[in-house]
Amino acid sequence: MVDPFGRTISYLRVSVTDRCDFRCTYCMSEHMTFLPKRDLLTLEELDRLCTAFIERGVRKLRLTGGEPLVRKNIMHLIGELSRHLRSGALEELTLTTNGSQLARFAAELADHGVRRINVSLDTLHPDKFRQITRWGDLGRVMEGIDAAQAAGIKIKLNAVALKGFNDHEIPEMIRWAHGRGMDLTLIETMPMGEIDLDRTDQYLPLSLVRSKLAEEFTLHDIAYKTGGPARYAQVEETGGRIGFITPMTHNFCESCNRVRLTCTGTLYMCLGQEDAADLRAPLRASEGNGLLNDVIDEAIGRKPKGHDFIIDRRHNRPAVSRHMSVTGG
Ligand code: GTP
Ligand code: 5AD
Ligand code: SF4
Repeated sequence: MVDPFGRTISYLRVSVTDRCDFRCTYCMSEHMTFLPKRDLLTLEELDRLCTAFIERGVRKLRLTGGEPLVRKNIMHLIGELSRHLRSGALEELTLTTNGSQLARFAAELADHGVRRINVSLDTLHPDKFRQITRWGDLGRVMEGIDAAQAAGIKIKLNAVALKGFNDHEIPEMIRWAHGRGMDLTLIETMPMGEIDLDRTDQYLPLSLVRSKLAEEFTLHDIAYKTGGPARYAQVEETGGRIGFITPMTHNFCESCNRVRLTCTGTLYMCLGQEDAADLRAPLRASEGNGLLNDVIDEAIGRKPKGHDFIIDRRHNRPAVSRHMSVTGG
């Protein structure tokens, strides 16, 4: 699959549920209305869609949410999808998780061929963790991280950089993560869903964070790539890597290789745009994939050049009103 700007699409992100057991303040509002369960694609339908994308050239599949591990019977889907790893059609089957259910599922994930996962973690302090997730238990996430590492799964931590919340903690997080053999990626907060004044105030450009870090650490830019948008630097003092995801200050759209599928079968060609294609109707219209493939190709054919996360400050409106949890980031 090649889009109009010559970019090869080889990475599919699938949000298997819009639900989550946390409510991170930059991602969700406290009182969310989730989709009625009857609107969700079944696991079999998700498998069929993923398989159609793999047949069309997807090499990397990432399950997201909401929180992917709260979807009922998710291990069944992961087990089924792992056949594409065994056949060599898929290079990587992975997930982005908040870690709350990892202790329970880590061993099974490893058995299904999951080698590397991303865990969202914005602070190492239990009280602050509870504050940002609204009620999350850091201890459980730590148990999950331990279990995943014990099962041989590599972990990359994702931290959204938030002014006045975790900016002073980043060096501590780097030392802790690298000390445990985990890379840490920092993310600029993106204006999606409702944005309140807090979030606008908390926005922190990573160029600033990086120059602060450079006072304490020696950072070497490296060509290391994970398939996502992060640009990495090696930290001389710790030997670990730090990633920077900068949707707001340094657009990485020219090398975009991904599209996103929601749990209702909607395909978003870009995280920062509203345009989408419905794949549920063609999926359900026939047992064959002819029509579905046509709709996918047509959708890839209108993938936009890039995102445009500009906040309408006068009305305090985000560029994209959809919540992050609909497309899983
Ligand atoms: P790796 O495979 O480790 O490179 O992961 P990844 O960065 O692709 O996935 P992850 O789910 O960890 O996403 C990290 C952050 O990057 C999230 O906040 C995503 O929303 C953001 N992100 C990923 N892809 C895009 C993109 O195409 N555009 C924008 N604006 N943000 C993205
Ligand atoms: N801006 C940036 N990153 C976000 N995430 C969730 N909401 C936002 C946002 N508004 C991150 C999560 C998770 C990843 C999938 O997306 O922290 O690590
Ligand atoms: Fe849940 Fe992840 Fe959103 Fe936090 S960022 S509320 S853990 S989906």
